[in-house]
Amino acid sequence: MPKIGLFYASSTGHTEDIARLIKAKMTENEVDLHNIADTVDNAMQNYDLIIIGSSTWGEGELQDDWEDYIDNLDNVNFSQKTVAMFGLGDQEDYCDNFLDAMGIIYKKIVQHGANVIGSWSTDGYDFDESMAVNDGEFVGLALDEDNQSELSNERIDKWIEQITPYFNK
Ligand SMILES: Cc1cc2nc3c(=O)[nH]c(=O)nc-3n(C[C@H](O)[C@H](O)[C@H](O)COP(=O)(O)O)c2cc1C
Repeated sequence: MPKIGLFYASSTGHTEDIARLIKAKMTENEVDLHNIADTVDNAMQNYDLIIIGSSTWGEGELQDDWEDYIDNLDNVNFSQKTVAMFGLGDQEDYCDNFLDAMGIIYKKIVQHGANVIGSWSTDGYDFDESMAVNDGEFVGLALDEDNQSELSNERIDKWIEQITPYFNK
C-alpha cells in the first residue's frame, strides 16, 4: 500500500472534513493526515506521493496557516514527487477569486519540479476568474461547500478514481 501524505489547513473545518473523507475513501492507499498548522517544516520531504488541500480566504489569499507555512515549500525538492491538489472556495461570493489559493500553491510546487496530477474540468461551476485554472482546467479538484455541497461526494469519488492509478503505478 503506497503511502500518501495529505497536507491541509482549514479555518472553519470544511477542508478538514474533506481531508478526512478523502482518507476514508482512498482504500488502496494509506493516507497520513497532516494539518499544516501542526506540521514541521520539512514534513513533505518524507513522501513521494502527496495530496495538498487548501481553502481560499480574504480576496484570493491563502488560508492563514498556509500563509505561515508556504515558504517552507521552497526547501522541498519536488522533482521526484507526484502531487494531487484539492481546493475549497465560494464561487458565488468570490467569483473573481474562486479557489485562488490552490493556484498559488500549484505555481510554487511546479516551480520546484512537482508532477501535478488530478486536474479537473470547470464544467458545472459558475465563476469569472480563478488562479487555479491552467490550460482551461482547474489544477486540482474544485469543491464549493458553500454553494454546491451536495455535489462534493460524487466529485470526490470521481477524482479519487482518476488519481489512484497514478499513485499506484
Ligand atoms: C471572509 C471570507 C473570505 C473568503 N474568500 C474567498 C476567496 O477569495 N475565494 C474563494 O474561492 N472562497 C473564499 N471564501 C470561501 C471559503 O474558502 C470557503 O468557505 C471554504 O469552504 C472554507 O474552508 P475552511 O473552513 O476549510 O477554511 C471566503 C470565505 C470567507 C468567510
